[in-house]
Amino acid sequence: MNNPTTTFAAGLEGVIACATRLSHVDGAAGRLIFSGHNAVTLAQTKTVEEVWFLLHEGRLPTAEELSVFRAKVESLGKLSTAEIALVKKARGNEPLSAFRTAISAIACHRGFKPWLNRDVKEVEAEVLQLQALAPSIVEIIHTGKAPVRKHKNAGYAQRYLWGVTGKRPSADNLRAVETYLILTIDHGLNASTFSGRVTASTGADVGAAITAAVGTLSGPLHGGAPGPVLDMLDSIGTPENAASWTQAELSAGRRIMGFGHRVYRTDDPRSLCLRGVAEKQNGPRIKLALKVEEEILRALKAKADAKALTTGKPVRALRVNVEFWTAVALEHVGIPRTLYSSTFCTSRIIGWGEHVIEQLRDNKLFRPLSQYTGPEVPESAF
Ligand SMILES: CC(C)(COP(=O)(O)OP(=O)(O)OC[C@H]1O[C@@H](n2cnc3c(N)ncnc32)[C@H](O)[C@@H]1OP(=O)(O)O)[C@@H](O)C(=O)NCCC(=O)NCCS
Repeated sequence: MNNPTTTFAAGLEGVIACATRLSHVDGAAGRLIFSGHNAVTLAQTKTVEEVWFLLHEGRLPTAEELSVFRAKVESLGKLSTAEIALVKKARGNEPLSAFRTAISAIACHRGFKPWLNRDVKEVEAEVLQLQALAPSIVEIIHTGKAPVRKHKNAGYAQRYLWGVTGKRPSADNLRAVETYLILTIDHGLNASTFSGRVTASTGADVGAAITAAVGTLSGPLHGGAPGPVLDMLDSIGTPENAASWTQAELSAGRRIMGFGHRVYRTDDPRSLCLRGVAEKQNGPRIKLALKVEEEILRALKAKADAKALTTGKPVRALRVNVEFWTAVALEHVGIPRTLYSSTFCTSRIIGWGEHVIEQLRDNKLFRPLSQYTGPEVPESAF
């Protein structure tokens, strides 16, 4: 019964668990594709709503479609007085836990039901409601107050940035955040997206699926690194300390936040793009961040080379990931580090929602097998 020779993929590494037309992470080439488009080009030239429409419809919108979609998102982005009170109640020490609780509470308050055997269009409308609400939820969690009126608001990214900084954003800051939100809107079958799809695959309500996804994003190994990246830059302090700090961390066997990735075997295109954003911002952190990145990459390469020498096998050196440069770019636009994971949710909730819709349109319950490693049971026991 117990077969120790059976192999399985730990962490499902290398396993294809579903088909999607939403995004493709080409880890070998360092390319990210959103529904047939280069994600970096979209991030540099489009708005969140345009890319959201692309994910939903499989094509970019016309000017008229965009304006209708934007107005719809804007009106769905408003919470009732009772819901504002619910979000305020969810506030605590950890903004991401509050965000997760708020999503769950709002879905419950709106009476979302399991999607199985329901009209798909009706369920899609529920997904859109949760996606559109994210900036307002984060604003309430941050300020403790109802969202302020944003006169002549230009869209989702502006509503978010205005909400958390309390003022109309400059064009440069808005572009930086728009770029970040687009770059992180979707990313293949990452851990949180997988969670969302697994939950949706049972026929559960879409509030449960999105809540599961938010919960999965709360760990530092997936989505939680930008805050710790700033803590790391703070403790390094000056470019001169970068090399000794890195050596000490690696010698102690600690992981360096903002480095390494499960899928990318070369540079993460999102981190290259955000490094460009940070260089253009040219803020007080940039010199330190560039030096720290250089030193950590050098040390990680030396570590990989040494391991290759002892094992006789090629070892890939870890590269910088999206979260290192996210930290530098978001700090510059005035988003407090405690809100970085919630900012990530504001973007990724769009991808989660589209994956949930994709799952329910062609559903198969996720039910993998496990390898039993417990004690054998004699035949006589049956
Ligand atoms: C993202 C991450 C979880 C991917 O990890 P993974 O592909 O599953 O790789 P593993 O956790 O199996 O690690 C493989 C090896 O690389 C090392 N490693 C991985 N990331 C590392 C890091 N950031 N710093 C130092 N060493 C690291 C591990 O210690 C392990 O070493 P070993 O083989 O000598 O034991 C991992 O790189 C990490 O923890 N990064 C830091 C957190 C982070 O930035 N998260 C945001 C990701 S976008």
